[in-house]
Amino acid sequence: MLTGTSRLAGILGWPVAHSRSPRLHGLWLRRHGIDGAYLPLPVRPERFADAVRSLADLGFRGANVTIPHKEAAFAVCDQVEPSAERAGAVNTLVFRDGRTCGSNTDGFGFLANLRDGAPDWRAEAGPAVILGAGGSARAIAAALLDAGCPRLTLVNRTPARAESLARALGGPVEVADRAPLGDAALLVNTTSLGMQGQPPLEIDLAPLPTGAVVADIVYVPRETGLLAAARARGLAAVDGLGMLLHQARPGFAAWFGAEPVVDAELRDVVGGDIPTR
Ligand SMILES: NC(=O)c1ccc[n+]([C@@H]2O[C@H](COP(=O)([O-])OP(=O)(O)OC[C@H]3O[C@@H](n4cnc5c(N)ncnc54)[C@H](OP(=O)(O)O)[C@@H]3O)[C@@H](O)[C@H]2O)c1
Repeated sequence: MLTGTSRLAGILGWPVAHSRSPRLHGLWLRRHGIDGAYLPLPVRPERFADAVRSLADLGFRGANVTIPHKEAAFAVCDQVEPSAERAGAVNTLVFRDGRTCGSNTDGFGFLANLRDGAPDWRAEAGPAVILGAGGSARAIAAALLDAGCPRLTLVNRTPARAESLARALGGPVEVADRAPLGDAALLVNTTSLGMQGQPPLEIDLAPLPTGAVVADIVYVPRETGLLAAARARGLAAVDGLGMLLHQARPGFAAWFGAEPVVDAELRDVVGGDIPTR
């Protein structure tokens, strides 16, 4: 039941109909009995800045931002948190005291999901290898460095993009044309390889140490070929759906004033219709 004082938030994207976020926040709103709503907000790129101002004028608490607006969202913010500076993109807006504040929760979501799925993993335990150098690689790499990961190697189809990301990140980051798995404590796939409709990710996991963790941020299918290969080798395997769920927590807490949890029911409601393999 909505009232005259309902709290409102939503997701700005173009298109946005495919987004699972309304389902996700909808379940949390029901669970917490909150008088509020989270709406899909399809906005053309050229209307983005006006749309954000209008949402603030209409009393929205804030919004998530997805493709293609994540970089444009920077420009509309009065204040940008370090998470967004590091990630080079904003995915969460909070309207507070007449100001628009931007953050990026992808790195938080990745780490929270990793800690959930592989509780024994420690950032400082050893080097991490990241496949890919796109938007999500940047957020994840920054989060791993900030968490204390001693060394990162980026491996990307387009090496120049990985070099540029390494420069933007600073710190112990190198670029390689083959994944150095022999001493890796963590392997992360941030490319779209392995996603339904995309070519498979071809990588031999044999050189990984026995305690290594393998994470894939692709979540369609839920059990990618990479995750299946990791499990077959007896390694801890962390799926991409959990990152999607965890990255939503800070926004929900800021807009609706409750700390939501990620659990099996949420996974089922948000990802139950995603093919397993
Ligand atoms: N679980 C989650 O919450 C979550 C969040 C965000 C994204 N994702 C998923 O993560 C993936 C990447 O997203 P993104 O936003 O980072 O995309 P992006 O910025 O477009 O980056 C895509 C990356 O994939 C690489 N790539 C694409 N096709 C390739 C191919 N055929 N062979 C080798 N490399 C290829 C690109 O390499 P080049 O630089 O050479 O083009 C680039 O490194 C997508 O599948 C997306 O659905 C999941």
